[in-house]
Amino acid sequence: MKGDHTTALRHLAIMGALNSFADITSGRLGESLGISQQAASREILKLAEMRLVERQIGRKGQRLTITKAGQELLKREYLEYKLLFEPAGRLMIHGTVFSGLGEGKYYISQPRYKQQFTKKLMFTPYEGTLNIRVNSADMPLFETLTFSEGIKIDGFVSRGRTFGDVKCFLGMIQGMECAVIIPVRTHYTDVMEVIASAHLRSELSLNDGDLVEVVVPME
Ligand code: CDP
Repeated sequence: MKGDHTTALRHLAIMGALNSFADITSGRLGESLGISQQAASREILKLAEMRLVERQIGRKGQRLTITKAGQELLKREYLEYKLLFEPAGRLMIHGTVFSGLGEGKYYISQPRYKQQFTKKLMFTPYEGTLNIRVNSADMPLFETLTFSEGIKIDGFVSRGRTFGDVKCFLGMIQGMECAVIIPVRTHYTDVMEVIASAHLRSELSLNDGDLVEVVVPME
């Protein structure tokens, strides 16, 4: 199970392997985790096999970095703690899933949006958006998001077409990491669009009309 490896990943991150390669021997990781060097070495091999870390063997020894998939695991744990310890600072928005006209796919697949999502949200979104019609009782919560800053994704012009600035809010939908995406120049709407690295309909067995909860931690 991937969950069993987050402790080792967290220690590796603290040792500097989060955004670049760091020189980390299995002895050092073992000390940090309170396990033997052999056990730490096996753990590293396992993490590499699961593509949660990338390993380079050089003349000076072993260098490790945490992959995007590894970062996602850590970030997910972080979001879970944040939701646990800051219950007052989270928005729980409920609504029902519905199908659009396939526009989400067109926007999310634009390379210049996609690059920024990957960099700023630390996940590469599935090319599409899950449309959620927000329950009227939760509209004030959704509007709170509309008025908040969020993570800014810059607009651009491509082939004579203008793609506007959008902002994103990282959160969870039914326990899966996601982001709510809102155009900066938006008009009043009860449609909330959610992106995620996963195809949410299949991962969460969602169909049109299903009720979902999106939880967004706020600063
Ligand atoms: O047609 P619509 O605008 O609803 O869809 P789209 O944005 O083109 O996305 C294609 C399909 O993938 C739709 O059925 C979405 O609901 C779904 N989707 C998903 O399940 N998970 C995502 N992370 C994004 C889209």
